[in-house]
Amino acid sequence: MSEKFIPIFEQTPASKTWDFPPHLPPSSGQLFDRLHRPLKDLRISVTDRCNFRCTYCMPKEVFNTQFQYLPHSSLLSFEEIVNIAKAFIAHGVTKIRLTGGEPLLRKNIEELVHMLSQLRCANGEPLDLTLTTNGALLGRKAQALKDAGLNRITVSLDALDDAIFKQMNDVDFPVSEVLDSIKQAQAVGFKAIKINMVVKAGVNEQEIVTMARYFKQTPHTLRFIEFMDVGSSNGWRMDDVISSAEIRQRLANAGLALSPLEAHSINDTASRWRYADGGEVGFVSSVTQAFCHDCSRARISTEGKLYTCLFASEGYDLRALLREQNEPDKQQARIEYAIANIWQQRADRYSEIRGSAQAEAKAKIEMSYIGG
Ligand code: GTP
Ligand code: 5AD
Ligand code: SF4
Ligand code: SF4
Repeated sequence: MSEKFIPIFEQTPASKTWDFPPHLPPSSGQLFDRLHRPLKDLRISVTDRCNFRCTYCMPKEVFNTQFQYLPHSSLLSFEEIVNIAKAFIAHGVTKIRLTGGEPLLRKNIEELVHMLSQLRCANGEPLDLTLTTNGALLGRKAQALKDAGLNRITVSLDALDDAIFKQMNDVDFPVSEVLDSIKQAQAVGFKAIKINMVVKAGVNEQEIVTMARYFKQTPHTLRFIEFMDVGSSNGWRMDDVISSAEIRQRLANAGLALSPLEAHSINDTASRWRYADGGEVGFVSSVTQAFCHDCSRARISTEGKLYTCLFASEGYDLRALLREQNEPDKQQARIEYAIANIWQQRADRYSEIRGSAQAEAKAKIEMSYIGG
């Protein structure tokens, strides 16, 4: 268990080559960053493509037929993803989320799920293995994902009204198919399905109470998400945000008053609340109540770059280390070493310093490239 900071090199840009010492240290078991935050949670983007064009994430004007997605050769293979996952687990990661774009568009995704489900945390326990999907292909894939060992599932769903839903996904996808997919996921045995609703002022705010009433009658947990200024293509303005406090007020006005619940873990993105007559609901308030102080999340992009913040402008190229032909027996130790260096130098806290000159100085990566 080392908490020691190893000042071997300065923050390394994605293109720079690494400089490894002759004797690579053993796995840390647990890593802390400069703000004493442990590395616990890994989010892996398996594709930069999506079959939706949510206006706040992949607007059609940007993500059109001219848009250059990554070529297949740039994507990490399943074996490469597993090797990266192993290196993170050796540093204390216990939770892995597969994201995209839309992860169910990645061919044979259930094979990757199966491979990851075989891994064990440093203490021998199974991983918390989960996936975020827009639900379009979930009905068809739910059984295979369950059989492959996926523990949990989160479905992004912003409205129940078909016209509003179609307006938001911008590909005319009917909400009934997503609702059917959620039922199918439940039928094959997924428990505690989470439903993520991004709330955007003037777009789907009238769906707040409808969504709450609908999901209150199900075993699923609805989470309201404040619209964030992630990436640089969604034209974010503070006026577009409806705060979690405002959402709770609107629910109370509709007879759905909430009281706070204890957090499951300090690293959680969502605060937990309960209705007076039972049932849980969550709020992800990264704009009005930033949670960077306990952020234990690392992200791997589709092409194998490590990002230490959702709002980072630059990632660290781990794929280059995976594809390095020289001394293959040292590959895993090198990846672990690189991860340790990067995490130990991490000081990101974008949501807490949003709006400052430091936060706004650089372009941010897109959410569809790095996943939520
Ligand atoms: P559970 O373990 O299932 O509770 O998942 P989670 O809440 O950790 O992950 P999820 O991907 O469902 O996160 C919910 C939403 O929170 C995402 O869609 C993002 O909008 C936002 N979010 C997730 N991680 C971060 C983060 O590190 N920083 C910020 N600012 N927002 C995040
Ligand atoms: N603000 C908040 N959440 C977002 N997501 C995508 N873009 C944004 C944004 N600008 C969420 C989606 C989904 C997950 C992949 O990320 O709703 O739940
Ligand atoms: Fe696709 Fe999810 Fe982005 Fe919508 S929010 S475009 S479903 S990745
Ligand atoms: Fe973590 Fe960055 Fe999100 Fe803050 S803004 S919670 S540091 S990912």
